Amino acid sequence: MEILGIDIGFGFTKATNGKQDLIFKSVLGESTDIQFREQMLANGVAEEDYLQVEIDGKSYFVGELAERQSNVRFFTLDQAQFIGKFAKVLALTATARLVKGFVPVNLVTGLPIGSYQKHKDELAKLLLGEHKVTLVDASGKREEKSISISKVRVIPQPFGSLFNHMLNDQGDLADKRLVREKIGIIDVGFRTADYTISDKMRYSERGSRTTDSGIARGFNVIATKLRENSGVNVELYRLYEAIDRGSIKIRGKVYDLKGMTDQVFGQLATAVANEVDRLWADDWDMDAIIITGGGGAVLAKHLQPLLNGEVLSIDPKIDMRLYNVQGYCKFGQHIWGRGAAPVPAAPAPVNP
Ligand SMILES: Nc1ncnc2c1ncn2[C@@H]1O[C@H](COP(=O)(O)OP(=O)(O)OP(=O)(O)O)[C@@H](O)[C@H]1O
Ligand SMILES: [Mg+2]
Repeated sequence: MEILGIDIGFGFTKATNGKQDLIFKSVLGESTDIQFREQMLANGVAEEDYLQVEIDGKSYFVGELAERQSNVRFFTLDQAQFIGKFAKVLALTATARLVKGFVPVNLVTGLPIGSYQKHKDELAKLLLGEHKVTLVDASGKREEKSISISKVRVIPQPFGSLFNHMLNDQGDLADKRLVREKIGIIDVGFRTADYTISDKMRYSERGSRTTDSGIARGFNVIATKLRENSGVNVELYRLYEAIDRGSIKIRGKVYDLKGMTDQVFGQLATAVANEVDRLWADDWDMDAIIITGGGGAVLAKHLQPLLNGEVLSIDPKIDMRLYNVQGYCKFGQHIWGRGAAPVPAAPAPVNP
């Protein structure tokens, strides 16, 4: 049995088996016949960027490949449509890439707090069972895989980050402190900002909510400005690299994005901090706050000074987009793996 964590985000799909991580944009496209498959130069595009799959008789380009090569591309920020049309293909693409096939897979995945009740059974049902997935590689070689998903556990997305903090790779408790304390989690993603509280490991409904204060809101402002100035409608998922770099070239003209980005992210951080203040007004006894998600990492420098209380620090070396999914995988180990069996207590490091 293989244990996988998959975080199907509006911006990026993230997956891990604990040893290997996978991340690609949550964009699908119609596959086209690519006549010239050779790379123009060696060391051009990484092999793993080529994601082509066939599922249920349909052929898709996935992620960057769809962005670059598909004439018709699909991308959504609508939850029902995301579950109905995207989740299965994105999750099975990730699964096919990470598992050998014929080995039963147990899967942990998540949903935003706000759509958890409504969609959790539907999502589990979509993924459970036998699936035939064909992977096509960059040279056109086909590999058919039989994927058998025997168990699916759906958890509220930000809990992934809590588990990632709390459990080690084997799924055993590593940080006992978090188990005894009241922890607030702020998960800023591409579309959603998710807030939740774990109070001595109990979920707090009062302190949990999903809002639209994701990075896309800031990207929208920038895309609108760019449309006004250049006449080109830049799709939101084509903005990550440009915003990261601080400039974008459209029809030969370079537009500086640094000033605007700083301003927009500052405003977004203020919106998030205000939501936190309102939502957690009665939770002044919080012990610590975790900022997570790829958007959390980007907003952290603006957001941290606006929050009251101890904020657990973010290691700038790690890719925070993977933080939830790594926790999903550890949680999978905890409930199904070695961590599920009682383990002799290892001498715990003593924290002063
Ligand atoms: N290396 C990176 N490449 C691209 N985006 C990055 C990177 N590092 C951080 N980001 C930021 O991460 C954001 C996406 O974060 P994340 O993957 O957590 O969102 P998501 O889970 O797909 O969205 P949601 O939770 O709303 O469904 C992007 O909007 C971008 O601002
Ligand atoms: Mg997310």
